[in-house]
Amino acid sequence: MPLLSTGTSRRRLVTAAAVGFPAILTCGRAFAAQDPFTQGVASGDPLADGFVIWTRIAPDIFAEDGMGGAPDGLPVRWEVARDEGFRHIVKVGEALARRAFGSTLHVEVSGLDPDRPYWYRFIAQGVNSPTGRAWTAPRPDAAVDRVRFTAASCSHWEWGYFSAYRHMAQEEDSRFTLFLGDYIYESPGQPLVGGRVRSYGDLPEADSLANYRRRYALHHSDPDLQALHAAAPAIAIWDDHEVQDDYSGIWSKQLDQLPPARFRQRRQAAYQAFVENLPVRLSRVMRPEGYRIHNRLHWGRLAQFDALDGRQFRSPPACIEQGSGKGHMTAIDCPDLEDPSRTFLGFEQERWLYDGWNRSTAEWNVLVQNLLIAPMVFDTPKGPVIWTDTWNGFGAARRRLIDTMVSSGIRNPVTLAGDYHSFWANNLYRDFDKPGQKPVAAEFVVSSITSSGPPENFYKNAMPANPQIRYFDSTHRGYMAFDLGSDRLDVRMMATSDRTDRHATAYILHSASVEAGVPGLT
Ligand SMILES: [Fe+2]
Repeated sequence: MPLLSTGTSRRRLVTAAAVGFPAILTCGRAFAAQDPFTQGVASGDPLADGFVIWTRIAPDIFAEDGMGGAPDGLPVRWEVARDEGFRHIVKVGEALARRAFGSTLHVEVSGLDPDRPYWYRFIAQGVNSPTGRAWTAPRPDAAVDRVRFTAASCSHWEWGYFSAYRHMAQEEDSRFTLFLGDYIYESPGQPLVGGRVRSYGDLPEADSLANYRRRYALHHSDPDLQALHAAAPAIAIWDDHEVQDDYSGIWSKQLDQLPPARFRQRRQAAYQAFVENLPVRLSRVMRPEGYRIHNRLHWGRLAQFDALDGRQFRSPPACIEQGSGKGHMTAIDCPDLEDPSRTFLGFEQERWLYDGWNRSTAEWNVLVQNLLIAPMVFDTPKGPVIWTDTWNGFGAARRRLIDTMVSSGIRNPVTLAGDYHSFWANNLYRDFDKPGQKPVAAEFVVSSITSSGPPENFYKNAMPANPQIRYFDSTHRGYMAFDLGSDRLDVRMMATSDRTDRHATAYILHSASVEAGVPGLT
């Protein structure tokens, strides 16, 4: 491995390392006395030979135009080292922060060794960014005994502090973080009893590129989220609130006020802001036909992770009510549910997923996606109903998914989801109506970082009619930690003590596991 020295200029820059104070600068005027790295650093999309490193130049986080107060075309140096002290720098380069792309940088670093940590940082106008740590994946053919990773979803700014992110950052040896959606919220939340924990301030509901960018800028000013990104690479998918609550494909929740042609423009702005602000691999995501965030990650021979886009290519919601595309309860005999022409993933993504499963030789196959797959039926005086926004609103598509899980012969399927602001552990069956079947897979749904959960008693009362749901808790916020080994998967549901406490502690609320070779929960 070549060792690239940057000589005296690097040492000078190291001594100038600082966050949050006026730097000694040689050029720039309004920019000169401000820290360019207010947004922290991040890495993502780990491969066996590299990863993406990210930062955003934003000396003025809350600039109304959403541009962060950065000049256009600022040259930013980046460095990747084998040690935290940057004595053994192995890759360096320079990139330009373009205002047209929100002054963000996504550097695709390659040529690294597999399965080891690296440290990285950026340098702009004499100021060093914070240092981040990333890990490369093992080679796809490598034997791997064990890997730890964590998962999160639903971090509404106003509903609490991001203590769960801080505890995720402190998960020893966690190799990567899965963000399952609702990384931001486009709209204000309902006030908590006693008031909001913190406020979006004067940020309006995001419906333009500038205002989506400002949402990300606010989130990335949070020290706990910055700590998590600096600790391990991210694999991020979006859910609805990165665009609009409960949207489905090009159908907004306000079909009459925001018809598909107009909603498509808003969605485009939201997608661009997501891609700018998450450490995604632009060479894969930016396609002539649009944004492609679904992604396959191999962790040696141990595991294949298929991360999905569960929003962009969806069919319209089932049994739409009066011009509203919002998620709603609908009777289980709604004819849309079993319509095979409706799709949750889009048929092209379905083919991509099923092709990947058919070719998978991994010991475990983990589906990383946004919404609950298991059926959840509520008995009401008018008869049984389901919530349309999850896979429950796409029954035929769900059947194709689970049938292919079986017919592809993949080993040890496990599915993950977010969205529901509650912890779940479920069994998935090929035919949920037939008693006595063996499970096909286990499903784990992670609770929210801060967002309020659904009413506990309402759901608990429905559980006897839903025996596939083996664990449910909507009263706690937190994250999930996974220890995946050749022999078993151990899952910790980690709750935080109080989302209104910036210094909240974290503890194990519930544990679950899956044994290799025995589909479903142990
Ligand atoms: Fe959410």
